[in-house]
Amino acid sequence: MKNARIILDKDYVIGRIDPRIYGSFIEHLGRAVYGGIYEPGHPAADEQGFRKDVLEMVRRLQVPVVRYPGGNFVSGFNWEDSVGPAKKRPRRLDLAWFTTESNAVGLHEFADWAKKAGSEVMYAINLGTRGPENARDIVEYANHPAGSKYSDLRRANGAKDPLNIKLWCLGNEMDGPWQMGHKTACEYGRIANEAAKMMKWVDPSIELVACGSSGSDMPTFGDWEYTMLNECYDNIDYVSLHRYYGNPTGDTPGFLARSMDLDDFIRTVIAICDAVKGKKHAKKQINLSFDEWNVWYHSREQDEEIWKREKWGPALPLLEDVYNFEDALLAGSMLLTFLRNADRVKIACLAQLVNVIAPIMTRSGGGCWAQTIYWPFLHTSKYGRGTALRALVNSPVYDCADYENVPLIDAAATMDDDGDVTVFCVNRDLAEDFCLEIDLRAFGEPALREHILLHSDDVKAVNTESDPENVFPSAGPGGTVEGGRARIRIPALSWNVLRFSGPAK
Ligand code: AHR
Repeated sequence: MKNARIILDKDYVIGRIDPRIYGSFIEHLGRAVYGGIYEPGHPAADEQGFRKDVLEMVRRLQVPVVRYPGGNFVSGFNWEDSVGPAKKRPRRLDLAWFTTESNAVGLHEFADWAKKAGSEVMYAINLGTRGPENARDIVEYANHPAGSKYSDLRRANGAKDPLNIKLWCLGNEMDGPWQMGHKTACEYGRIANEAAKMMKWVDPSIELVACGSSGSDMPTFGDWEYTMLNECYDNIDYVSLHRYYGNPTGDTPGFLARSMDLDDFIRTVIAICDAVKGKKHAKKQINLSFDEWNVWYHSREQDEEIWKREKWGPALPLLEDVYNFEDALLAGSMLLTFLRNADRVKIACLAQLVNVIAPIMTRSGGGCWAQTIYWPFLHTSKYGRGTALRALVNSPVYDCADYENVPLIDAAATMDDDGDVTVFCVNRDLAEDFCLEIDLRAFGEPALREHILLHSDDVKAVNTESDPENVFPSAGPGGTVEGGRARIRIPALSWNVLRFSGPAK
C-alpha cells in the first residue's frame, strides 16, 4: 500500500463554487433531442412528448444550466424556424451533422423541458451564417416583456411572460475551419462585440460568453483569445473553452494524466484574459465558461460509417460513445480540475447530456440507463457545492508520454454552507491501494459520514441497457478518524467521495 497526505483548512479558500460548473449541453445532433429527451409515443412520454424517465435521470444530476441548441448546429440555424405552430415549421438541412432538422422541438418546447429538468437555458446564437441583427431579435423575442415586433410574436406563440434567458453564447467554435461561417479572430471579435452591444441594449441583465478556442491543440490557440478579447473585452463576460480527450492507443496512465492538459489550458486562458485586462487598463475581470468538455473518441469510426450509408436522415445515431470505467476516472479528474479553478471557471458544460457523448443513454421505444461518467458528475454536482478549498496534496507521482510528475492521487475538496467537508479523489495507480491521510484538525473532530467508491477491475468495463449497474457506486472501505486526522483506504484505480461532517453543531 502506498501513502499520500492531504492538508485542509477552512481558511485555505479558492473561491465560491458557481453551481453552473455542473452545467450540460443538448444539441440538435443525433438522438440527443429526437429519441433522447423527446419521444412522443414512448410509454414514458409526457403530454409534450418528453420522456419522463430521462427527465428523472437528468434531475438527479442537478444540472443548473443546459447549453442549447448547439454546437456546430447553431452556426447554420435560424431561430425563427423553431417558433410558431409546430406543424408549420420548416424542415431544414443541417450542414453540421448532415441531418434533416424537423424543428418539432424548438425554443418554447426546450424552455419547457428545461423547466421540468430544473435547469436554466444557456442559449447559443448563430454568429456563423448570421450576425448582430438576428442576435438582437432573439433577445427581444425571448426577454422583452411586450410591445415590440418580436416580443409580441412570442406572446402570440403562447408565452405571455418572457422566457428570461440570462446566459447567451456568442456563436460556437468560430475558430474552427469546420464551422459554418468560420472567422479569423479579428473578424469574430468585431462581430461578437457588435452583437454583444445590441443584445445588452435590449436586455442589460444578460451575461455573454465569447468563443475562445475549440481546443488547446488548435494552432491558433492563444493568439485567438488575445486578438478576439482585444475587440470585445468591454461587452462580454466570459470566454469559452472546449476540450475532449480520447485514448485510442489504450495508454491508461497517459489518458488519466490528460487533466494536466486541462489545467494548463485553463491557466493559460486566465493569463490571456488578465493580459488583455492589463493592456486595456480595465477594472472588469473576464471569467471562464468551459462549455464543452468530455471524453470523445469511441464513436468516431462508427459515425463515418453512418454517413457513408445515409445522409440527411432524422436522428441518426451519431456520437454515441459507450463510456468505460477509465473514462469515468478521467471525467472525475476533469471535474476536480474545475473545482480547483473555481475562482475563475464559473460555468462548465458536460458535452453532452443524452445519447450524444452523454452520461444518459436511451433506446428508442425502450429504457434509459446511466453510463459510467454519470457517477462522478452526479457526485460532484450533489456534494461539491459551497466553497472550493485549496487541498495541499502530497502524493507520489509518475511520468508518462506527455507529462511528468503526475500525482497518483488527484484530489479536490469542498466545504458546504453547513461546514461539512467533502474530499473527492481519483487514485490513478493501476495496481496499488493508498492509505490517504487527511489532516482535518482545522475542522475540530469531524466524522467520516460516508465513503462512496466507483471501481472496476476492468478499465474497459461499460454499462448497457441489459447490465446498467456493471460500473456502479458502492460503499468504499472507509477508515479511521482520530484527533482530526483521517486515514482512509483508497483502492487502486478508483473514484472516491469522502464526506466528513463538519464541527459539531
Ligand atoms: O459536442 C459535439 C460538438 O463538438 C459540438 O457540436 C461542437 O461545438 C464541438 O466540436
